[in-house]
Amino acid sequence: MRLEVEVLAGAEEIGRRAAQLVADELAAGRLRTLGVATGSSPAPVYTSLAAPGGPGGGGPGEDGPGWDGVEVFALDEYVGLPPGHPQSYAAVIDREVRAPLGLDPRRVHVPDGAAADLDAACAEYERALEERGGVDVQLLGIGATGHIGFNEPGSPFSSRTRVVALAERTVADNARFFATAEEVPRRAVTQGIATIARARRHVLIARGAGKADAVRAALEGEVSPACPASALRTFQDVLVLLDPAAASRLSGRTVSRRSAADVR
Ligand code: F6R
Repeated sequence: MRLEVEVLAGAEEIGRRAAQLVADELAAGRLRTLGVATGSSPAPVYTSLAAPGGPGGGGPGEDGPGWDGVEVFALDEYVGLPPGHPQSYAAVIDREVRAPLGLDPRRVHVPDGAAADLDAACAEYERALEERGGVDVQLLGIGATGHIGFNEPGSPFSSRTRVVALAERTVADNARFFATAEEVPRRAVTQGIATIARARRHVLIARGAGKADAVRAALEGEVSPACPASALRTFQDVLVLLDPAAASRLSGRTVSRRSAADVR
């Protein structure tokens, strides 16, 4: 197993580093399925992947390793938002990933948080992932609670795609995307920890001092459901990309430092 931690100057450098990893996998013919997260952390990766001349070869019509045949699976979706709501993760992935990369909408999968039978929708999502043969590269953010996907503290490492309640802290943190805190859904459908663990490679991104405690717990605390992101230390191939603020509470022993100049 391999877990590497790199501290980079900021969002742009982190975006380029992660995009390069994705593009290298694509160029090597090893990227059939990309696992995507929503939120602020991975946004610079998508920008970098889609930039003309960028590592992903740009958007539609650009030269570069093609996205043909690549499928995208999202980690999670809110429960209770009307279909088409601009903050639904289906809408966010469509805006930030599908459209810039010119992907066929039929190749983009997001759990159905509006299904009448949510349990059946969760089982169907697991089945679709299974049928696809799993995720090759999974992009992840981390919540201040230590969540990955929406697996809040206490989530078993054996968990699969299911309906979960969001922690109060998560609701408060995500209120920035909504007009009022009351609008933030309290429930979500999320891939479980065991579902996420199946990916061949993981890239976790964290920026800002608000993530420093969660990053420390994930990388240096006990490996336990009390910090769901600590499950990363049981995965097979993990790259953690941090800015200096997110890395500020690490002891330093786990961290290899790279300067922006090292990043293509
Ligand atoms: C989103 C997701 C969450 C976020 C996390 C960090 O699909 O799965 O785990 O990655 O809440 O969110 P940001 O990046 O907005 O700080």
